[in-house]
Amino acid sequence: MPDLFKVMAERRSVRNYSEEEVNERDLNVILEAACSAPSAGNLQAYEVVVVRERERRIALARASYNQIFMAQAPVHLVFLAYPARSASIYGGRGAELYSIQDATIAAAFAMLAPMPSVTGPAGWEPSGTMRCSR
Ligand SMILES: Cc1cc2nc3c(=O)[nH]c(=O)nc-3n(C[C@H](O)[C@H](O)[C@H](O)COP(=O)(O)O)c2cc1C
Repeated sequence: MPDLFKVMAERRSVRNYSEEEVNERDLNVILEAACSAPSAGNLQAYEVVVVRERERRIALARASYNQIFMAQAPVHLVFLAYPARSASIYGGRGAELYSIQDATIAAAFAMLAPMPSVTGPAGWEPSGTMRCSR
């Protein structure tokens, strides 16, 4: 597994993408990393939507202040806060704060996920079991 601090130091925002598909194995590693994030009450009050369809990617880019470069990326992960899930335990604080924090932290964890096909044999192997329901 790559050194976490090296990964953090080398992470950069990317605004120019190749159209090469992200394979399912890499995608699972990214989603597993998101699912391993802490969440208030362990409720994981967020959903992740995987978007591959070109028209939807363009619509997302337009909805994101018209940042059309986004649509180049072959797959988008949309992190949605799930206010009702957090509100069921934490009321308004869960709906208005914790669910957004949960989604944000999960997105940050996803950003730091190494991808096996990029990092080579030393990369992080997906466990094969999504841990979102822990
Ligand atoms: C809450 C948040 C919102 C952001 N929104 C955008 C955005 O809409 N478009 C964009 O290109 N970058 C966005 N960024 C990326 C920042 O511009 C970027 O992290 C910052 O310039 C530092 O560069 P780095 O990520 O390469 O270290 C966002 C970052 C954060 C944390």
